[in-house]
Amino acid sequence: MTLLDKTFYIETFGCQMNAHDSEKVIGTLVQEGYRQVETEVEAGLILYNTCSIRDKAEQKVFNRLNDYKALHKEGKRFAVLGCVAQQEGERIFERAPYVSLVSGSASYRKLPEMLVQLEAGNNRITGLDDRQTDKTFETEFTARSNKHRGYITIIEGCDKFCSYCVVPYTRGKERSRTSDSVLAEARRMADSGYTDIQLLGQNVNSYRDPSGKMSFAELLTAVGQVAGIRRVRFTTSHPRDFTRDIVEAIDAVPTLCNHVHLPVQSGSSRVLQRMQREYTREWYLERIAWIRAARRPISLTTDIIVGFPGETEEDFDETLSLLAQVGYDAVFAFQYSPRRNTPAISMKDSIPEDIKSRRLQTLLECQREIQRVLYSRHIGEIIEVMVEGERASRGQVSGRSSQNKVVNFTVDSPIMPANGTYLDVRITQSFPNSLLGEAVVASYSSKGTHREEVPVV
Ligand code: SAH
Ligand code: SF4
Ligand code: F3S
Repeated sequence: MTLLDKTFYIETFGCQMNAHDSEKVIGTLVQEGYRQVETEVEAGLILYNTCSIRDKAEQKVFNRLNDYKALHKEGKRFAVLGCVAQQEGERIFERAPYVSLVSGSASYRKLPEMLVQLEAGNNRITGLDDRQTDKTFETEFTARSNKHRGYITIIEGCDKFCSYCVVPYTRGKERSRTSDSVLAEARRMADSGYTDIQLLGQNVNSYRDPSGKMSFAELLTAVGQVAGIRRVRFTTSHPRDFTRDIVEAIDAVPTLCNHVHLPVQSGSSRVLQRMQREYTREWYLERIAWIRAARRPISLTTDIIVGFPGETEEDFDETLSLLAQVGYDAVFAFQYSPRRNTPAISMKDSIPEDIKSRRLQTLLECQREIQRVLYSRHIGEIIEVMVEGERASRGQVSGRSSQNKVVNFTVDSPIMPANGTYLDVRITQSFPNSLLGEAVVASYSSKGTHREEVPVV
């Protein structure tokens, strides 16, 4: 296979923004006459959409590129997209000379032009100069991989410059789409059967409508009121831009989910200052108090970095005490990874790897115990679940609650509910990361599929 066949294979690393960017990149390629194939062997063009948030993520990309070096001899072409592409730039051509195209996410709207150059035989194509752009990446067609739940990016880039983070350098400056354009996309999705929308942004609540019509909370409300939409989520919120009207919107609009992901990074104000997060523990906890005062049972999740330079045992204990105080339903915890070009790389008092790793283990154990208790409180409740698949080996169906908790359950029927169905489930057992129950009413039968016909998910 060569580029002339106009076949492509794409592999995606990293966060939800990257996953959704890939759906838009696929849409763009399809519009340009390309056809997606399932394996790199069948493809003329192989694309990697990459992540450089931590060193391990970046190494994964270079290992993958190495694995497929041999395919180049068959005339295949390679493109590296995303955050490693932007961060490493033309150095990628040196490390992997068989790569022909390197582009950061701020340049994706120029992909059609880059493809023309690729087809003309150019082997050194770059899209690296657009980080200061005001433009966002919007496509005529987005190849969404799920038929019921879909992403909409409302804001790209980041202006926060936390001292450890590559994102402001890889994604460029903050720029929002107009509320009209976001709402038009939400309506189109609802018309084609989507019921669950997730609004995306590196800092989704830093949204600023370029047309000045709507605040973030007003946009949330408007998306939640689109006919046919049953669930709206948003991620990731930054504490600095977390305003009270977001909680008021959740209270007022039933389709907005009972879930806020609010990364804290550390429970120590001293560490937060060194991280340039621009808030203190107390300031963060005030936002948590607003969320806890809501009428709806809003679930909270967070991100934590352990072993940031200068983090003492006392600082780490403050993070553990914050976890106990807030009671998160999930925590994404990472060992600090020094990143090139970021201010934290030159900070003194780096923490040895074994201490970082011990702190991470301790934190995860404490959090598991917290979740064990929190999840057990759901026993006896009836929770609405959106079906996502089947656990065939156990005869169970799997889905998610409004709080974003995984709920596995049995149905008293030979017909399995189709993906995307909403069902009430009575919770009978709990685990630290999931709930178990039984469907209350089997009112889905007309849309269901017979057990025998359901593929293993
Ligand atoms: N914009 C979001 C986070 C996006 S990055 C926010 O500010 O909250 C996702 C997560 O990766 C971060 O929350 C942080 O916990 C983690 N992360 C970022 N840079 C990191 C680094 N250098 N080492 C370890 N974890 C990091
Ligand atoms: Fe990175 Fe901070 Fe921006 Fe989040 S807010 S993406 S952690 S720089
Ligand atoms: Fe990774 Fe870039 Fe997302 S660094 S986490 S893919 S913004």
